[in-house]
Amino acid sequence: MQVERIHKIVIAGSGVMGGSIALLFAQHGYEVTVYDISEKGLEQCKRRLREENKTGVIAFTREKGCFERADFVIEAIVENLEIKHAFWREISAIVPGQAILTTNTSGLSITQIAKAVISPERFCGMHWLNPPHICPLIEVIKGEKTDAETANLVSQTGIRVGRVPVMLEKEVPGFLINRFQFAILREAMSLVESGVAGKEDIDRVFKYGLGLRYACLGPFEIADLGGLDTFYRIASYLFKDLSDAKQVPPMLSELAENGDYGVKTGKGFYEYSDDRAQRVIEKRDKDFRKVADCLYDHLI
Ligand SMILES: NC(=O)c1ccc[n+]([C@@H]2O[C@H](COP(=O)([O-])OP(=O)(O)OC[C@H]3O[C@@H](n4cnc5c(N)ncnc54)[C@H](O)[C@@H]3O)[C@@H](O)[C@H]2O)c1
Repeated sequence: MQVERIHKIVIAGSGVMGGSIALLFAQHGYEVTVYDISEKGLEQCKRRLREENKTGVIAFTREKGCFERADFVIEAIVENLEIKHAFWREISAIVPGQAILTTNTSGLSITQIAKAVISPERFCGMHWLNPPHICPLIEVIKGEKTDAETANLVSQTGIRVGRVPVMLEKEVPGFLINRFQFAILREAMSLVESGVAGKEDIDRVFKYGLGLRYACLGPFEIADLGGLDTFYRIASYLFKDLSDAKQVPPMLSELAENGDYGVKTGKGFYEYSDDRAQRVIEKRDKDFRKVADCLYDHLI
């Protein structure tokens, strides 16, 4: 399979991720089908995309026949190993032999999911960031059986829709993004719990300081610019003081166990009553779009 011959994209799962990935491929001229087992899910997805005026070029279906013609499958169904296994067992038996098969799992093992895939050498992790039609990064994760050509085709396909791929030659829990994200969250919660600073101020550190830096540079570039003599001295006394907690702290576990999941339930670390949740999502997308337009215009 050559990347130029990939035209028909089938996305399984019409939720938060699937709909947005479909939009991106449709905007780049691919023939896109969104498959879901839920009629309600498909209807909601259609409604969301209609606002972007792109439903005309995306087909929506509950029929598995769409996979028989797929060149490239992106699985973005619920994050549950048994459900993903059942899906792949069935779908990998009906896709064309040369189709490229990917999963958008946030953290399940690619090698584990691949156990249900017929010809797992053409199966690969393709991890998108939310919202996928705005965030350029994709993590391409090789499972034990993924062949190099498959991973390369996944990267190339990402590039064709204006994404920036990073390759994980072998999988590791959390891939790259979530290892960084959760290292930060662990330290942030530890600082709040030990009374050093409040949540709002810690969020400000990222919005008005580190966020600007990391939007433009990576940690190795920042260290080189800061001076490795200084970074070495700081690392020598600071590493031993950073949180290395192995348990999820009560600050997170109590909220999660209480069903306070954040924006989606109206309460998390902050409150989102009335229409605040919607406004927070809209502001996020607007701000992301502004930053993306400034920094990533060369990718689009
Ligand atoms: N939401 C995020 O921020 C995010 C980011 C990166 C990766 N992911 C991953 O992407 C995947 C999807 O996440 P989401 O947030 O879009 O979920 P979601 O709950 O919004 O949507 C999941 C969709 O999958 C459908 N579905 C469930 N079982 C199915 C099946 N057997 N066949 C077809 N459709 C099925 C559901 O009806 C639903 O519409 C998960 O693996 C998740 O971990 C999510």
